[in-house]
Amino acid sequence: MAIDRIVQQTADDQPDANEDQFEQTLRPRTFDEYIGQDRLKKNLRLAITASKKREEPVDHVLLYGPPGLGKTTMASVIANEMNAQIRITSGPAIGRAADLASLLTNLQDGDILFIDEIHRLGRSVEEVLYSAMEDFKLDIVLGKGPSAKSLRLDLPRFTIIGATTRTGALAAPLRDRFGIMHRLEFYTPEDIQKIITRSAQILETEIHDAASEIIASRARLTPRIANRLLKRVRDYADVNGDGIIDTPLAQSALKLLEIDEIGLDPADRQLIDVIIDHHGGGPVGVETLAAITGDERSTIEDFLEPYLLQIGFLERTPRGRKVTPRAYKHVGKKPKHQASDSPSPQEELL
Ligand code: ADE
Repeated sequence: MAIDRIVQQTADDQPDANEDQFEQTLRPRTFDEYIGQDRLKKNLRLAITASKKREEPVDHVLLYGPPGLGKTTMASVIANEMNAQIRITSGPAIGRAADLASLLTNLQDGDILFIDEIHRLGRSVEEVLYSAMEDFKLDIVLGKGPSAKSLRLDLPRFTIIGATTRTGALAAPLRDRFGIMHRLEFYTPEDIQKIITRSAQILETEIHDAASEIIASRARLTPRIANRLLKRVRDYADVNGDGIIDTPLAQSALKLLEIDEIGLDPADRQLIDVIIDHHGGGPVGVETLAAITGDERSTIEDFLEPYLLQIGFLERTPRGRKVTPRAYKHVGKKPKHQASDSPSPQEELL
């Protein structure tokens, strides 16, 4: 059966099975509980109120952006706010058109079908999805060759919520069938701190404000990472202290995790070092970087790069990735011979 929670363990930022359950405990259930993403919430609230008034399912929604920012969480909030049932699956889990047909025919009016990693659907599956999304019809071809017959089945009126880390990888006809498209943004450090405080409350863990601020400053502006760090620091507090998370304890725990003061871990620092040491700061192609670091290309593109781009440590150029003066400074290195790349007076001050 294609309905399941897909848990990938190929990349650092993906939740494993344990963490997945932990995330579910902490997951907000309503827009009021959901911290951050205000623009998205405002738009979705409007769409949901309108569709409830019309007694129709909400338009299909596409959520995109880096991993860990709450796409799945937002999908379950939408379902909850619509009083709808949600089915969760993913692009790679729907291998054949028949898998999708079985999912769709088992839906009920008003249900939400959440498809994570929707950019990984195969072409033949995507084609079945087009008419399903547009007309709530399922086109089935029976048999092959000249005797093949096609059938059109009515489907319940449902909503697809698709999630992807890359809209670019989505076929245009599929993208065009989503009435609502939204990018999830990185969170502010203040919102990340609020999420940590809320999670600590749910976990019945005492945490000092200054300690939650420190964890927040190292969480890469990403709730999933914030909650993961909180969990590790809580373990540390239970083993090495009295369970209360204060500043010195948070600092020691984060040191043990090798997370530096801006949230970079050894994999980030390795990426920056490789670009500097092997390629004079870049530009260098992502495939070359993957070969040197031993990471998958998708790990670099989906998990490492977005935050490094966000904080201005990396630049994407047509010829590849380039390290910025700010990143040089952070790793304590100096650009060798890049007159045009020398830091601006503002950057010198950073
Ligand atoms: N836990 C994970 N993400 C959250 C969010 N955006 N708001 C509240 N709690 C969360």
